[in-house]
Amino acid sequence: MSGDRPPEERPARLGRRAFLGSAALGSAALGAAALAACTSDEEPRGPGPGRQVPFLGSHQPGIDTPAARFGLLAAFNLVHEDRARLAKSLRDLTDEARGLMEARPPERRDTAYPPTETGILGPDGRTDGLAVTVSVGASLFDDRFGLGDRQPRELVRMPFLSNDRLDPAQTHGDLLLALSADQPDVLLHALRQLMRRTRDNLVLHWMLDGYNRPDAKPVPGRTDNRNLLGFKDGTANLDITDKALMDELIFVGADDGEPAWAVGGSYQAVRIIRMFVEFWDRTPLNEQQKIIGRDKASGAPLGQDRESDDPGYAEDPAGRHVPLDAHIRMANPRTSETAGSRILRRGFNFSRGFDNAGRLDQGLAFVSYQKSLTRGFLAVQARLKGEPLEEYILPVGGGFFFALPGVTSEDAWLGQQLLA
Ligand code: HEM
Repeated sequence: MSGDRPPEERPARLGRRAFLGSAALGSAALGAAALAACTSDEEPRGPGPGRQVPFLGSHQPGIDTPAARFGLLAAFNLVHEDRARLAKSLRDLTDEARGLMEARPPERRDTAYPPTETGILGPDGRTDGLAVTVSVGASLFDDRFGLGDRQPRELVRMPFLSNDRLDPAQTHGDLLLALSADQPDVLLHALRQLMRRTRDNLVLHWMLDGYNRPDAKPVPGRTDNRNLLGFKDGTANLDITDKALMDELIFVGADDGEPAWAVGGSYQAVRIIRMFVEFWDRTPLNEQQKIIGRDKASGAPLGQDRESDDPGYAEDPAGRHVPLDAHIRMANPRTSETAGSRILRRGFNFSRGFDNAGRLDQGLAFVSYQKSLTRGFLAVQARLKGEPLEEYILPVGGGFFFALPGVTSEDAWLGQQLLA
């Protein structure tokens, strides 16, 4: 794909939360009323055929935009140790990601050459809610590129944490692409196009894909999504439509003491967490519910009726309903002191066959965003140390990354201020 088409040929761009059924409904056919309805800042839309997530914005897509059905993480290492090559790769990633998210028509070439794109989405292309989020790892700030003085303050190589058995082949990376879309072929197409464009410099280190069941109409406090332990996952997640909350907890602001280039970005904690599902499936329901702290069927906190009910910890100091060591209670005790450690979870379920012992290799690709790793992910993880759930899960990979600030103008590229 090439980014040098004249501006008038480029599709119209909408605000961060504008979702168009672009494939089903050509932009020319889109009336003003429909456009107004689609651009409401208050109402993010769930998955649908051909929806389009805007590329431009002060934050990258895929963080505070609605969840999609499928997710893919791909971590890369850089071959070349020079800054100009790194800048070129980031410019290419930006252009390619934008073209993919906007279904930019591929460049036609003489048939004597390889076609410019995979063809797996057919000749008209599709967006299907594709969002591409580009992040950088702590290793990008080692002595290869002279960026040491620009490192985000808290960006470190992910340490071994409680219960971890990190496999180097699934851990860390100079650069991480987080892709999400409503169709798996859109993800594979995007990955191939992005890799093709950058293959002179980016070498795949690990990747993982999986799925979710996002809500057609997201409502804070409830969800139909379930993880592979069979529990609702996402119930008490942060409300992505609450911009003030996102600014307070998720996106780096100008007063957060981070380098100026990082404003608008977000720390990203990625954990590939294997689940021992056979063992879990042999655990009594009663115990499963106590381990999580919620009713398995309804998702309600134990002792409450509805999924959206407050767990009422203040009225239950001894943990008669929700045990003191239940996952939800340890993760978020809901006190004023712990309010600052709330995180935005954006993971997905994975299943990748079975291991040498014949056990299913299933789990959660946990991804969280926060403006501070220390106050966010690491604080929550420290509270979870020793939780009963640990017996059923094993973190085997992932890494700490920093999601670059978004791109707000046509000629800008991801990481431009970092490399300026
Ligand atoms: C395989 C591993 C994990 C499983 C199966 C799991 C499962 C769950 C479930 C079922 C819920 C309740 C529903 C909801 O609010 O989404 C939940 C909530 C939560 N989890 Fe996890 N989780 C896992 C790992 C983690 C990790 C690694 C963290 C962070 C370090 C974390 C942080 C949270 C938080 C903050 C909540 C919301 C608690 C609340 O506000 O009430 N989880 N998790």
